[in-house]
Amino acid sequence: MSGSFDFAPVLAQGLPAPAVKWKGSAKYNFIGGNNDADQVPVERLIAAAREVLAREGKTLATYGLASGPQGYRPLRDFLAAKLARTAGIACTADDILITSGSLQGLDLVNGVFLNRGDTVLIEQESYQGSLNRLTRLGVNAVGIPLDREGMRIDAVAAALDDLKRRNIRPKYIYTIPTVQNPTGTILSEERRVELLKLSEAHGVPIFEDDCYADLIWDGQRPPALYAMSKTGGVIHIGSFSKSIAPALRVGYIVAPWEMLSRMLALKTDAGSGALEQMVLAEFCAAHFTEHVPKLTRGLRAKLDTLMEALNAHFGTAAEFDDPKGGIFLWVKLPDVVDIQKLSQAALAAGVAINPGPEWSTNKPYSRSRMRLCFASPTHEAIREGVATLAEVCRREFDVPERIANVAQRARA
Ligand SMILES: Cc1ncc(COP(=O)(O)O)c(C=O)c1O
Repeated sequence: MSGSFDFAPVLAQGLPAPAVKWKGSAKYNFIGGNNDADQVPVERLIAAAREVLAREGKTLATYGLASGPQGYRPLRDFLAAKLARTAGIACTADDILITSGSLQGLDLVNGVFLNRGDTVLIEQESYQGSLNRLTRLGVNAVGIPLDREGMRIDAVAAALDDLKRRNIRPKYIYTIPTVQNPTGTILSEERRVELLKLSEAHGVPIFEDDCYADLIWDGQRPPALYAMSKTGGVIHIGSFSKSIAPALRVGYIVAPWEMLSRMLALKTDAGSGALEQMVLAEFCAAHFTEHVPKLTRGLRAKLDTLMEALNAHFGTAAEFDDPKGGIFLWVKLPDVVDIQKLSQAALAAGVAINPGPEWSTNKPYSRSRMRLCFASPTHEAIREGVATLAEVCRREFDVPERIANVAQRARA
């Protein structure tokens, strides 16, 4: 119901623009960080829910279950063992805080570090959710360019030196080092060593966002920055959104108690949802290690379909590197393509894409780039969606000129 009461005069100052009402997903949906519906381990989650509730359901009577404010203890125990095995992180359940998705982790870390007017370093292309938070907080985000090996360390050094000359000490260096969003790069171990040296020399902590680290085709990853740091100047966040399912809303922060205690003091929600933590802990203890390679095999197959479709429908007009993991392809179209305009025209034709400028601190650089999520659409939808996108792009920008080796204007 929409009444006659006027809320406008009593609204808080500085609110973001109102949300747009959801009208359903596009037919060909390449946006967001959604997962593959066929890979959600539904039967095993049902079994896990039944078991854990039968055994421990009565603990739901207490805020924080019987585990206290850092989150369900068996889930933190699972994470401590998993992080040791896969990321080289030596920590215990006491070093972990379960959050409502890693987005809450971002908010809590930002909460303890950032004031309006502060400066941070961030990969030039980065997660929109992180960039938007910084904008809204009035924080100056210095974009560091990437190459095929991730964040360019020479550019980090230059930025830190430049800021130092201006008496500015950045609050953190935010990085998605292990399957970067959106570029899909993995920061090499050598670069990690260099980045840690710079962080220590300048007294600037590293904020490591590792939510895609499980989704690597060959399963090989360098140790986490958190694991490699000799001084403990790294805050690490992760998530179950990409390895299991985003709607569960379960993420985590790994940090020394000195910092975790600060974040816990800001986490005034009386605990993240208990059922999903319990179900995840029960499922993961038994099935996580076999679930993940199955998931990544399926994702890799969808990436192959996407790259084939782009090659077939855009030819050389679509440039991209074959990412080592993840759920996104970062694609460059010819300079003539204004990707914001393309995304609007494509949406009208049922194809949703993420325009590059929303994922970058450098608007001119990202003007003709887009991010495509290949995890969620089916193989068929990927093929049809890319074909439709190419049609729209040719109509709007005369790109691509050739499809499947047939000159379009000659064919028309
Ligand atoms: C780099 C990065 N960090 C954090 C998030 C937030 O994920 P969630 O809150 O679902 O854990 C995302 C989601 O796409 C992401 O790409």
